[in-house]
Amino acid sequence: MSSPEISAAHHEADRRRTFAIISHPDAGKTTLTEKFLLYSGVLTAGAGSVKGKGGQAAAASDWMEIEQQRGISISSTVLRFEYRDHLVNLLDTPGHKDFSEDTFRVLAATDAAVMVLDGAKGIEPQTRRLFEVCRERDMPIVTFINKWDRPGRDAFELLDEIEEQLILDPVPITWPVGEAGDFRGVVDRQTGEFVRYTRTARGSTMAPEEVVDPERAAIDEGDAWTDAHEGVELLDSIGRNFDRKRFEAGDLTPIFFGSALTNFGVAKLLDAVVDLVPSPTARLDANDEPRPIDSPFSALVFKIQANTDKNHRDRIAFMRVCSGRFERGMVVTHGPTGKPFATKYAHSVQGQDRETVEEAWPGDVVGLVNANGFGVGDAVYQDKEVSWPAMPVFAPSFFQVVRPLDTGKFKQFRSGIAHLDEEGVVQVLRIPDVGDQAPLFAAVGELQFEVARHRLENEFGAPVEMRPTTWSVARITDVESARELRPLFGVEVAERADGTQVALFESAVRARQVENDNPELTLIRMMADANAEPAWLR
Ligand code: G4P
Repeated sequence: MSSPEISAAHHEADRRRTFAIISHPDAGKTTLTEKFLLYSGVLTAGAGSVKGKGGQAAAASDWMEIEQQRGISISSTVLRFEYRDHLVNLLDTPGHKDFSEDTFRVLAATDAAVMVLDGAKGIEPQTRRLFEVCRERDMPIVTFINKWDRPGRDAFELLDEIEEQLILDPVPITWPVGEAGDFRGVVDRQTGEFVRYTRTARGSTMAPEEVVDPERAAIDEGDAWTDAHEGVELLDSIGRNFDRKRFEAGDLTPIFFGSALTNFGVAKLLDAVVDLVPSPTARLDANDEPRPIDSPFSALVFKIQANTDKNHRDRIAFMRVCSGRFERGMVVTHGPTGKPFATKYAHSVQGQDRETVEEAWPGDVVGLVNANGFGVGDAVYQDKEVSWPAMPVFAPSFFQVVRPLDTGKFKQFRSGIAHLDEEGVVQVLRIPDVGDQAPLFAAVGELQFEVARHRLENEFGAPVEMRPTTWSVARITDVESARELRPLFGVEVAERADGTQVALFESAVRARQVENDNPELTLIRMMADANAEPAWLR
């Protein structure tokens, strides 16, 4: 890159913030996303909502039929907005636990996460699972304790829960005045000021942030102020102070209290996204070598999405720019195949809306249309070759045998299966003796099967029959061990398209037995194995 381009890369990267929101369903992720858009001026009051519920405006991000039928969000899209002269890329993660592998892939493309907790519920199962994914990547996390406008738990109790269950130091940046359900506002711990809570009519307008000096707050709020003040003193005395290094290492989380529904605390949270979330920096490649942001263009493919537009059967590969400048039309190299790819159709996709992207910088997300052969984890670059560390495969716990209902549609069936495999909708396994006639679908969550079935039928014209199997645990093995494993009772060995050998067991007990009886065999656990403790707890 020329020196003006190098300084442009730094300038552009510095003003970008790329993150995702993680939460248990119903904690308020959609509401908060909507409020971010309101505060950034993208959504104007009453202009529609991100998710259509109860007859509201049609969803911007829920567009796949199956999502609409079930009212869940499977597909991740990217919302992009400007705030305080910064460009914010908010990557949407699927809310349902069955798609946590997709979430992991999305998080691989972000620089931080905002964790939303329901103030009445604290850490919920899906919060913990998603947090685990962040912990694997040492990702900085900003926490928003939501729904303080209605009765909930004690603030200190919530901090304890975060500390004990997530092994993460909670550091409140704001502290609530008034207990949950009697929300008066928050104290900004840095300035000592009181920001008064104002209820807006279901949050259709920005909440006025009335800043009140402490003397006035003491008179107006009485006991609630005294309690909050004591709370802040306690936090100071036990050293709950923000430390940027520990935040960036994923060891400490700054905490904000608020109510997304009534918009309170949203501005402070957005400010934190801009002030605290690190801007894109050098990314480590497969050899652990950093690729500086001012090196030639490179990107990471983190999601493949088919049929975003019913009228145009297409397939979009979403990539996050890691270094250099992307310009539409440039010819890039697809890392794994070494083939050139002309980026004529580059889009940003917000729900159903597509906009052509002319230029992008580190931290941005670009959707490449018809990037056939691109898979999740692939590197795309110009000039200087790069490959990224392999995306870990999640341990599947559900296995079903799939057969075409109509044998005359075998060709469509095969092509559909290959596509779903490449996109990572489900993992596809072949049992050597059975072959392609009846492959095995392996999934982290059962909803993945529904998506696969729906797509095989509607997109590829190949209706299928799917039967559960008795397998429930998988381990990676190798060809030599496979030979020993196959004859064993209650064990099968299947193969992935890339040749990886996968040993299947009927139960975790059986898997452990075989491991113990045959210590010489290769049996490797995969990530997020439901039968194993998360790595960071071990
Ligand atoms: P999700 O995307 O994390 O699943 O959650 P979502 O934003 O859809 O919010 C779940 C429910 O919680 C919604 O109510 C929403 O209005 C409510 N909610 C979100 N933030 C707050 C808050 O700060 N305070 C209060 N009191 N409620 C909040 P719903 O009844 O399911 O939907 P709706 O009919 O209100 O749209």
